[in-house]
Amino acid sequence: MKRRMRVGILTGGGDCPGINAVIRAVARKVMLENDAEIIGIVDGYEGLVNNKYRKLELADLSGILTVGGTILGTSKKANPYRYAIKQDGKLIFRDMSKKVMDNIDKMELDCMVVIGGDGTLGIAYKLFKDGVPVIGVPKTIDNDIMGTDITFGFDSAVWIATEGIDRLHTTAQSHHRVMIVEVMGHNAGWIALHSGIAGGGDIILIPEIPYSIDAIAQKVRERHKHGKRFSIIVVAEGAKSKGGEVVVQRIVKESSDPIRLGGIGFVLGKQIEDATGIETRTVVMGHLQRGGSPTPFDRVLATQLGTKAAEMIQKRQFGNMAGIQKYELVKVSLEEVSKGIKKVPLGHPLIASARSLDTSFGDKKIR
Ligand code: F6P
Repeated sequence: MKRRMRVGILTGGGDCPGINAVIRAVARKVMLENDAEIIGIVDGYEGLVNNKYRKLELADLSGILTVGGTILGTSKKANPYRYAIKQDGKLIFRDMSKKVMDNIDKMELDCMVVIGGDGTLGIAYKLFKDGVPVIGVPKTIDNDIMGTDITFGFDSAVWIATEGIDRLHTTAQSHHRVMIVEVMGHNAGWIALHSGIAGGGDIILIPEIPYSIDAIAQKVRERHKHGKRFSIIVVAEGAKSKGGEVVVQRIVKESSDPIRLGGIGFVLGKQIEDATGIETRTVVMGHLQRGGSPTPFDRVLATQLGTKAAEMIQKRQFGNMAGIQKYELVKVSLEEVSKGIKKVPLGHPLIASARSLDTSFGDKKIR
């Protein structure tokens, strides 16, 4: 009797709204159309190293479309090629890829779908080069993955950040304060740019455009002079001043990407207060941006990317990621995806559009 196809699904890196919608879409399509068995790897690459998995049935996929997080769990630390182990109180790194290959054999996987951000997909590419048939799906609130115009999770994060900015607007107005809203995005400014425009931020600071504190202070003072006695500043966690450095919140030694950004909002708050004498408060949106139910847009995108990934399994198009370009679902090679991150281009039309409305990016002094 012919053995049923076995598809492994792994979710790695930071979670975001829409992961479960992808799991549901991939799994249902190959179960219904190919009678495939689905193996859910538990806790991302951690589960692949330590052989932790569970079989998913159709019933497990029911009711998860709208649920945030990942039903499989995830890890931001485990990397099979550089796996952190504590030995005699010291942290050492080991290549566990051989063990991972054995585990994939033990699980009898015919292929794997890896749902993750740039780090997770980079590891997926290495696995592919080592012989594992892999399909990637781009997941991150940061929207910084090459080869796709948009990642699922981004719209939900922008929605949450915008909701925060809207609420801070009213209290900023009442108290005639500067309100700084720090948003995530790692080294890319997509969340700040979109939520800043959607929330009507007066100043938007993104990593791609280093800022000058003088230009920011001048803009805030100008607004005051013209009767706008409050200002809203949306700052990406990865933003930095001209010639300055990013603000690091913590170093996670076990992680392949150990630097966790955060805190720029507070640094900026003090600088603005010192430069203008205007009372300033900072709010960090933080992990709220990764929590809760996906927006309808993200549910649709996740479903589309999930079914595309399933179709790519059916066509045996391994070594590729499902992506979306100009509203078309596409396959992009994981090699292309692993080349770096997608930053906001300086010539992006949204930057020009915002500038034309007198939104400042903190880089130019007003004439
Ligand atoms: O990549 C997603 C992301 O939320 C980034 O925006 C942020 O810099 C980072 O993860 C936070 O990581 P952690 O969950 O480890 O705090």
